[in-house]
Amino acid sequence: MIALVDGAPATEVPVADRGFGYGDGVFEVLLAEGRRVRALDMHLARLARSAALLGIEPGRHLAGARADVARLVGAASGRTYLRVVLTRGDGLGLDPPPAPSRRVVLAAPAVAGGPSALRAITAHGHPSPVPTAKTLSRAGHVVHRLRARAAGADEAIIVEDGLAREATAANLLAVVDGVLRAPLDRALAGITREIVLRLARASGMRVDEGDLPEVDLRRASEVIVTSTMRGVVPLSGLDDRLLAGVEGAAGRALLRAYADGLADHMAEVHETTS
Ligand SMILES: Cc1ncc(COP(=O)(O)O)c(C=O)c1O
Repeated sequence: MIALVDGAPATEVPVADRGFGYGDGVFEVLLAEGRRVRALDMHLARLARSAALLGIEPGRHLAGARADVARLVGAASGRTYLRVVLTRGDGLGLDPPPAPSRRVVLAAPAVAGGPSALRAITAHGHPSPVPTAKTLSRAGHVVHRLRARAAGADEAIIVEDGLAREATAANLLAVVDGVLRAPLDRALAGITREIVLRLARASGMRVDEGDLPEVDLRRASEVIVTSTMRGVVPLSGLDDRLLAGVEGAAGRALLRAYADGLADHMAEVHETTS
């Protein structure tokens, strides 16, 4: 793993960092292949939106993160996991101090593989108080994930107020009565989700981005999750119900479309000398 803290090589942050102490910060996870980074602009735009929701001023960090990413992908090779973190900086106590925010950008080899289909449970209650921001406060997501693991599953689908929202680290798609349902309310606006929905519409699929009641989730013919590092992954089971997994027609079509379309969203990033 290689990392930059406020643009300088380092692998540690001060113990008073509020990201460490309170989860008081936001982050992005990006995928790179060599120097080619997927959807960097979309990730930086979402970082800015997440920061705004927490009242953190991203300021110089957006340009800084772009430069850091270029530097790290130049030093990395192969398929790379990039993490861009912005914390509110140092401080003790809940009241935010007037400290400068801090940026951490790290790169590590991406873990290969993962199951081609996932089993999931439903978990009630949204673990994030700010679900539309990608915040560092992830303990609730971890608890849902632990429940899934204890039940012999891989993921948890978050259900809240009778509506299926998203997974602990992925967005949710479900095929109900032939329509690809893609809830977004009180969920993270996933970059992979956006790319996949564009491809789905282009291929003629009917897409509905409205709410997905739990009753519809439970009668879906296919359920699929999307995320940067996992891509498009169909579910092979949800609670006690077996699902199509990689045999589902919509899942297969989306997997193929995403595999074919991904290259269009990868762009080379180079260090500038200015
Ligand atoms: C809660 C949550 N929803 C959705 C996603 C998917 O977002 P993206 O496709 O941008 O990785 C993630 C990614 O980690 C996530 O943590």
